[in-house]
Amino acid sequence: MSIRSVVGTGLRTTIGRAETEQLRRREVAARRRLARLIAPPAPESNHAPKPPTAKPKPKLTREEMIDALGRAGVEGLGAGSQLPAGLSWASPDPFEHVSSGFHKHEFLGALHELLQPRRYFEIGVDQGQSLTLSRARTIGVDPAYRITRSIHCDVQTFLQTSDDFFATDGNFDHFEGQPVDLAFIDGMHLAEFALRDFMNTEKHMSPGGAIVLDDMLPRNSLEAQRIRRTSAWAGDVYKVHEVLRRHRPDLTIVPVNTEPTGSYLVVGLDPSSTVLSEVYDDVLAELSSPDPQTVDADWLRRSTAHAPGPVLESSVWAQVRELRDDNAPAEEFRGRWSALHDLG
Ligand SMILES: C[S@@+](CC[C@H](N)C(=O)[O-])C[C@H]1O[C@@H](n2cnc3c(N)ncnc32)[C@H](O)[C@@H]1O
Repeated sequence: MSIRSVVGTGLRTTIGRAETEQLRRREVAARRRLARLIAPPAPESNHAPKPPTAKPKPKLTREEMIDALGRAGVEGLGAGSQLPAGLSWASPDPFEHVSSGFHKHEFLGALHELLQPRRYFEIGVDQGQSLTLSRARTIGVDPAYRITRSIHCDVQTFLQTSDDFFATDGNFDHFEGQPVDLAFIDGMHLAEFALRDFMNTEKHMSPGGAIVLDDMLPRNSLEAQRIRRTSAWAGDVYKVHEVLRRHRPDLTIVPVNTEPTGSYLVVGLDPSSTVLSEVYDDVLAELSSPDPQTVDADWLRRSTAHAPGPVLESSVWAQVRELRDDNAPAEEFRGRWSALHDLG
């Protein structure tokens, strides 16, 4: 038995347990102070671990990233749509449709071949991937385009928004007063912008003309938010479908299952129609309803969309070209489009 424990036992019987413990603590503290005086701590060496200066930032969970992106408020494409510092696009939700394996540019390229448009109009040029498909006299509009492809057509480009373009007299002069045979609307991915683009474009279309809207078939609701959260972004342009379906039963509408975010073909156009401009203010609140957006399950599954093959194989395109070459009046085109309603 050590001297310390003999002394401790003796003390406990004479002055009691609590007093003995207190004495013991004081003795330990005194010994530590003495040890520091005799041997002060060594100066900091290069190898000594440095105390952490800042706590490493905890990684955001997917839900937190979606929330942070929502607050960052990236609404739009082009110059203003850069990913905010410190954030990354959220991984998308799963897709519910069966892919056709057909890319939107393949579909648009096939339409160029079938329709052989004399004049092509494009909203949303970006790097010129879709523009490069045109062999017609062409106008392209985009406030932030940076073309990196070879272009094979007689094109005039406008570095401005589509709204500004349509508000400027003479911007269609490149077409010398002649109407558009094929138009591709792929600008701002917000429903009210896409509807305005459609309304304004329709006024310039030829009787056998076709408008294709991009991104009308988002693959999940996350991709369809107005505030961008995912790398591929469809936005909420899909809402335009309901407006056209309700207010323009005279149009022939063909949703097409293309990758990535669907194509939406509209024919049977009527440049004199004022219906959409009359209802625009009434539908605006519905179109610009804030996030979250919830896309109908049927639309996500693309169960009412057509496979590109039957649309492109239809005999309607040759008929329309023939009527166009004969300068047939608008009424003669109308009956032809019904072939596109009955596709499998
Ligand atoms: C998805 S990209 C177009 C891609 C191109 N059509 C293609 O398929 O290769 C969308 C483009 O729309 C442009 N954009 C954004 N807001 C616009 C607006 N208000 N009017 C016209 N273009 C707009 C962006 O600058 C961007 O380059």
